[in-house]
Amino acid sequence: MAIFEDLRVFSGNAHPELAQQICSYLGITLGRSEAFKFSNDETFVKILENVREKDVFLIQPIAVPVNDNLIELLIMIDAMRRASAGRITTVIPYYAYGRTDKKDQPRVAITARLVADFISMAGADRVLTMNLHAGQIQGFFNIPLDELSAIPLLANNFKERNLDDLVVVAPDVGAARRARNIADLLGAPIAIIEKQRLGNDDRAEAVSLIGSVEGRNALLVDDEILTGGTMVSAAGLLKEKGALDVYCCAVHPLLSGTAPELLRDSELKEVVVTDTLPVPQEKQFGDLKVLSVASLLGEAIHRIHSGLSVGAMFEH
Ligand code: R5P
Repeated sequence: MAIFEDLRVFSGNAHPELAQQICSYLGITLGRSEAFKFSNDETFVKILENVREKDVFLIQPIAVPVNDNLIELLIMIDAMRRASAGRITTVIPYYAYGRTDKKDQPRVAITARLVADFISMAGADRVLTMNLHAGQIQGFFNIPLDELSAIPLLANNFKERNLDDLVVVAPDVGAARRARNIADLLGAPIAIIEKQRLGNDDRAEAVSLIGSVEGRNALLVDDEILTGGTMVSAAGLLKEKGALDVYCCAVHPLLSGTAPELLRDSELKEVVVTDTLPVPQEKQFGDLKVLSVASLLGEAIHRIHSGLSVGAMFEH
């Protein structure tokens, strides 16, 4: 039995396609709302139906344009709260600013924490998200948060292919745990690349490899692909070290600037990502495969609404 009144799902402008697919999974229609900008650049949101005492889920990855989508989400939360929604769960498939999660240089902000404060203060009751850049970001929120993982979805995609002599590779030390998780699901060993960032811009360079990839097919795994520099540089190093085919997978396809061309023209045989973020036609290329997380999110929403375990979705 539902613990809150009717389930309602709404979407901002960040990823309406995903919201529609989630609604199809749940067998409900998307809630009616509007969000747009006035000529003075201010965002306006209006909820176009009654949400009093409803169990409301707002679907809004913090996609590019990041600050606009974040503000739109905050205003949607406020509008829902003032419209007397019973409970407001923000569904944030991609949590931007996740990389700014610590003071690793003098006089810098911890923006991932600041954004969490904004979301709570706006009036959200819960958060549902996927593959945070770092697990400890969960603790930046003082409201309940469920973090889903797309790693099993990505792993299944490669399991079905039965690739011989596979080694899973973390493209940097921070990705080692993620690589271990997918390697366990695939029954493969892991290797780890040491990556150097060149200053505060986006350039990344793979400098050395811990483990062996010689004569093996390699699968690189990361949480996100931004410029593509990490994956492309890692793939080059793996080829140099004698890997056969090099595949890569990541949960969040940010694919900024020339990333699609860089990835397409690289040593990578295939790039597999999910649709936590929209991948517009102009960013798609032949060797890019996009898997949908709509049913994962839909199932989690159903469970949160019905007071069922979300963790049970990941138990074997
Ligand atoms: C960094 O720590 C992240 O896990 C990714 O490795 C990074 O965001 C990828 O960025 P890029 O594609 O620009 O190298």
